Amino acid sequence: MDNLYLGYPKRQGSPPDLNHLLYLYTMEAISSIHIESTPRSRINDVDISKALFGSVATDHMFVADYAGSTWNNSQIKPFSNLSLSPFALALHYGQTVFEGMKAFRMHDGSISLFRPDKHYQRFCRSLERMCMPLVTEELFVSALHELVSIDRQWVPVGEDSSLYLRPFMIASEAKMGVKVSDEYLFMVVGCPTGPYYSKPLRLKVETQYIRSAEGGTGYAKCGGNYGGAFYPTVQANHQGFDQVLWTDGKENRYLEESGTMNVMLITGNTLITPPLSFTILDGVTRDSILTMARDNGMDVQERKVSVDELEQVLASGKNVELFGTGTAAVIAPIKEISIGESIYSCYIGEDSTMYSLKQQLLDIRTGKAEDLYGWNYILA
Ligand SMILES: Cc1ncc(COP(=O)(O)O)c(C=O)c1O
Repeated sequence: MDNLYLGYPKRQGSPPDLNHLLYLYTMEAISSIHIESTPRSRINDVDISKALFGSVATDHMFVADYAGSTWNNSQIKPFSNLSLSPFALALHYGQTVFEGMKAFRMHDGSISLFRPDKHYQRFCRSLERMCMPLVTEELFVSALHELVSIDRQWVPVGEDSSLYLRPFMIASEAKMGVKVSDEYLFMVVGCPTGPYYSKPLRLKVETQYIRSAEGGTGYAKCGGNYGGAFYPTVQANHQGFDQVLWTDGKENRYLEESGTMNVMLITGNTLITPPLSFTILDGVTRDSILTMARDNGMDVQERKVSVDELEQVLASGKNVELFGTGTAAVIAPIKEISIGESIYSCYIGEDSTMYSLKQQLLDIRTGKAEDLYGWNYILA
């Protein structure tokens, strides 16, 4: 992974300073965003504390367009449908990339974006893989900053609630031919959300279909990765499972990730998770959990985990915690997993380490605990 191109400019400074520096750069970029406010907010039409994930948009959206090799017309305007040619390349050849991140209401009432720098870096890696133009970090963060500032009433109160933010880019050139687009839209939209999964999950280890292969696009957050995952997931749903746990594309032997989550297992003081590679997404939650677990003195192992090893450890009678990590779900406990013909139970007791790691992360995000890692980008 280290040799993947990262075209974003590196900032100097120790971690706690980084988001402050980013904040200063962002202030300059914000001044070039044109703002058109909605004449009527919809905030009183909905109960944002009960909004289902992805169902209600905030009042505004950010849009910039790319043509002639530059980004132009940065604007925030009322949330509305797009006008796109049916020839738009994104609709046919899949040049689309997105991010998923969150803004939190802190205990003191301020609002924080969680790790926008890390999401930006992944956005760049995805864009590069899909032959799409980069945006600067200033444009990326100023769009988020200004949109969330204008729609700050939409950031719900409550530990398990947040404003989900979706920066994304699509190829907008109207051309009916297989080519790299010369025109794009970069947008940010948001929706208030509560807990993503309401109960522990049942997973199926998938050994027939694959999500990604070496040399493919598995590490990129591009639309096609998700479209291709639907069919096997729907099959698993029909069999009574919530999600599939993907295995590697070559031998179906090693665990990869699940749905929109990285996967981890804990036994005793050891936390094990598949290593980053070209076939799985470099999850921001994954990185946060691993960082905290290491600092808590856990033995963190990023290494290949075979289906056989998972089966052995689950059959051993030890308490095994298995869970997914992701922005939407934070930590999603897995209660049962099917491997071949067998179903195994995982430990989900209240004293599970995964719950204390989740709480530790929520405490940092909401300002209850000190942000030692500089993960919170606080809006003024
Ligand atoms: C395929 C996939 N894996 C893992 C993740 C978890 O990543 P993050 O923790 O950055 O949300 C996501 C969610 O974005 C995802 O879509």
